Amino acid sequence: MLATSSWNLEVDSERVAWLTCDMPGTSTNVLSAAVLKDLAAALERLEDERPAGLVVQSAKPSGFIAGADIKEFLSIQTPEQGYALVRAGQAVLDRLENLPCPSVAAVHGFALGGGLELALACRYRVGADDTRLALGLPEVMLGIHPGFGGTVRTVRLIGAREALELMLKGKPLKGARALKVGLIDELVPPADLKARAKRLVLAAPPARTAPFVEKLLNLNAMRPFIARRVEAALHGRVPREHYPAPYAIIELWRRYGAQGPASYEAEAQSIATLMCTPTSRNLVRVFLLQTRLKGLGGQSKVEFRRLHVIGAGVMGGDIAAWSALRGLSVTLQDQSEELIRPALARAQSYFQKRAGSPQAASEAHARLSMDAAGEGVASADVVIEAIVESVDAKRALYAKLEPRLKPGALLATNTSSIKIETLASGLTDPGRLVGIHFFNPVAQMQLVEVVQGAGTHPDVLQKALLLTRQLDKLPLPCKSAPGFVVNRLLMPYINEALFALAEGIAAEHIDRAGTHFGMPMGPIELADVVGLDVALHVGRVLAEAFGGHVPDILVQQVERKKLGRKSGEGFYVWRDGKPVRSTERATRVPSDLEDRLILPMLNEAVAILRENVVEDADLLDAGAIFGTGFAPFRGGPLQYARTLGIDVLTERLAKLEQRYGDRFRADPGWRGLERPVSSARL
Ligand code: NAI
Repeated sequence: MLATSSWNLEVDSERVAWLTCDMPGTSTNVLSAAVLKDLAAALERLEDERPAGLVVQSAKPSGFIAGADIKEFLSIQTPEQGYALVRAGQAVLDRLENLPCPSVAAVHGFALGGGLELALACRYRVGADDTRLALGLPEVMLGIHPGFGGTVRTVRLIGAREALELMLKGKPLKGARALKVGLIDELVPPADLKARAKRLVLAAPPARTAPFVEKLLNLNAMRPFIARRVEAALHGRVPREHYPAPYAIIELWRRYGAQGPASYEAEAQSIATLMCTPTSRNLVRVFLLQTRLKGLGGQSKVEFRRLHVIGAGVMGGDIAAWSALRGLSVTLQDQSEELIRPALARAQSYFQKRAGSPQAASEAHARLSMDAAGEGVASADVVIEAIVESVDAKRALYAKLEPRLKPGALLATNTSSIKIETLASGLTDPGRLVGIHFFNPVAQMQLVEVVQGAGTHPDVLQKALLLTRQLDKLPLPCKSAPGFVVNRLLMPYINEALFALAEGIAAEHIDRAGTHFGMPMGPIELADVVGLDVALHVGRVLAEAFGGHVPDILVQQVERKKLGRKSGEGFYVWRDGKPVRSTERATRVPSDLEDRLILPMLNEAVAILRENVVEDADLLDAGAIFGTGFAPFRGGPLQYARTLGIDVLTERLAKLEQRYGDRFRADPGWRGLERPVSSARL
């Protein structure tokens, strides 16, 4: 009947209108300005036609609508522009809400951000019951909050407590939970979605609203108390000065209680201001960086089925478990079965916790097998070596391994410090070796460095990138250089902290300076978590390559067998997996402490870029954010450096150099950094 470029509108014999979102040329619907405009045209038609009911659905197998078009955010320069865009979107959804007929969103897969807000403007929502169903408002991740009426309609529908949780956490709800809180009216078998949605609009029962007790909590007199409690819970976790959006969500509700037109107007004003904050700009940047890393896997449909992991220690065991849970058949080898068993036991409890269901856990378990004899090598699509960090041991292993590999099988090493060229030189085909450097703990670290030796074949690199995507990790392609990217960035942060500790500054103060800047963990705690022996090893590799010296205090702790969390004591004493912090250790905290910790990291970032270890500044920032947790709201070390100003930073480095010596000498690469960011590629 009516077809715009993104919506199809048809009316069936029972006068039910079917409005189907199907953006051309993409597998995912997003709520761009153009899609909203087309929606307005369809709604205009419906206002005239007056059908018996309306079903809104998506033609994409992937899901309903994923959210706003984030790239459009980049073109918003001022709060006024943001406000105009948001108000226009609100007006379209108001029209949907005020149609003269009942409406239902028939949701399969994801309905996120603006997609869920659109569904909320319908009178009902029906969800297709499978594991892919996910309804959420993840806007806080981008430093904003819902803007198309979501802060209002969620409260009206499910009550403030659930609505605030949905918006503040940004975590999507699965089907059963969405039904329980009332975000959807019905959860139905996917095959019945259309029929059940149609039945609902034709039956037209009264629309759901928040439970009575929630309405009481929404009274003017109650809101300040609850808002204060929710805010207090947020304070410890989310610093307001770095992340204002969650506080804005609470404030909107406290002031307006999701009532009247003023609440929509306030929502638009608030999001328009937030959109233009540096935090939101940088979080949008982080999102786009993540999209770029995901895209590096390429479009190939090749699938890796069989993985053979050699070395069942800390890393190999966890890589094997992670991969089995992601659907690969995994054989795990070590020097004896006794050495493999602990890894299998660890994997078993990991599957039970993470697989989602007992059946998925037992399937993952069945995919992982013990293989002390290495029989899996011959049929493996990929072999990942994760044995001890020794050139001789690894090379001896490869010599035996290479003749047994399937033609075209990928050979990867998890080495954290040995050059790929050194390891590859004994191979008949040195170009087949690539580094796939997972971080510890494997399950928690999103980033994986994909390390290209000078001779690594380009197709081998591409396959490695593809594998990391199949394993649901974010790949960072980098050259084989000491410390690659992540360890090289983190070591100056840890080293400087240890020099400060040796000067008598309390560990608690040093760690607080790191977290105050926005790092997820202070450097002393981080060293203890990584393991002081591991930190010492990496420190020595870097000192040998780039000069400088490893802090004596680190060497001494390792000699005393105080290795950090794993041995119960490092620079902290550890109890129940947590460092015991002293509240009494008062030391004078020098005002340059934060600079001392952070500037060496920035300086190192500049050096890594100058040496072309990564291809461009954005990739470096992505590596820092996803690999070291570098304060996401600052957009990455190089983005932060540009924001603060190259001159300002080099001057500060010069002052620190005067005070503390050579290790603060500004890298020559700072001069080249004045070029604009290469965000064209994002
Ligand atoms: P680990 O010492 O926990 O485990 C190594 C395992 O390899 C041991 O079980 C050992 O029996 C086995 N092994 C040694 N030679 C073997 C051989 N010829 N054949 C079969 N198995 C053999 O070591 P970890 O920590 O798991 O490290 C493994 C690799 O991962 C190293 O290259 C290391 O640099 C790298 N890595 C380590 C990280 C960490 O935090 N531990 C982080 C990232 C990379």
